Amino acid sequence: MKIIAANWKMNGSFEDVDSWLDYILEEGQSNRINLQNVEIVMCPPATMIDYVDGYLMEGGFENLEAIMKEQHREFNDFSQDELTEIVLSDRFINLGGQDCHFEQNGSFTGDISPEMLRRVGCEYVILGHSERRAGHLETSEIISKKVRAAIASNLTPIICVGESKEIRDQGKHLELVYKQIMLSVPQDIKFKKLVIAYEPIWAIGSGITPTAEQISEMAKLIKKIFTQKFPGLAESYFTLYGGSVSSKNSKEILSIPGIDGLLVGKASLDAEEFLRICLS
Ligand code: PGA
Repeated sequence: MKIIAANWKMNGSFEDVDSWLDYILEEGQSNRINLQNVEIVMCPPATMIDYVDGYLMEGGFENLEAIMKEQHREFNDFSQDELTEIVLSDRFINLGGQDCHFEQNGSFTGDISPEMLRRVGCEYVILGHSERRAGHLETSEIISKKVRAAIASNLTPIICVGESKEIRDQGKHLELVYKQIMLSVPQDIKFKKLVIAYEPIWAIGSGITPTAEQISEMAKLIKKIFTQKFPGLAESYFTLYGGSVSSKNSKEILSIPGIDGLLVGKASLDAEEFLRICLS
């Protein structure tokens, strides 16, 4: 199974969400077979998550209505578990937040808690994106607390790591990513699933992508860390690549051993381009 996540960042309108979902759901249905090994994760701005959830629920409620008719049952005849299963069974796109706080509530103006994301239908949350590490001074220690809180709320964290151009030029990129992972992933908790997104800062939004060898070197490091430092959990982590992904390079990147998916920024805003990436 590969994970293809769309990081919309602070972009898009409700109209854009409508047309994006219309396209992905319709074209996605006709390409269902080719997408059966793809998990699509949409991470819109926080104000749009509930709206997307409602949109995705519509299909689920249509399924429920059809089952009620077929089995001559009323809404109240279904248990909560049955309802959840029916409504979510056909869900084609998962939802993710772009950040969350490490507390579940309190005096944190402007922040959103993991529980709040969960309640509006999120399964994932991006944490420690370089734009947050740089623009909001987030350290790996803060990210580690967020990871802990996200897992406690049943969210799968997508933890972003990656070096700047200067660090790579100094040949310290492996050391930096090693440290970022070791400090961002709490070592005393069990997780069902955890995603590491390797996003070199110099590749984000620049149109430049690393060579297959450079990505592969990092995928090997991540594998080594999880095998050695998180024994028993080595099957529960996924490694994504992010940074100037497009349909022109997605196939090659996905074929690199150890890469389980992509975190797509700019190219994910264009539904046709994003679907091409999912189908590559
Ligand atoms: P980009 O962004 O695809 O526009 O380079 C990726 C990201 O920042 O997650």
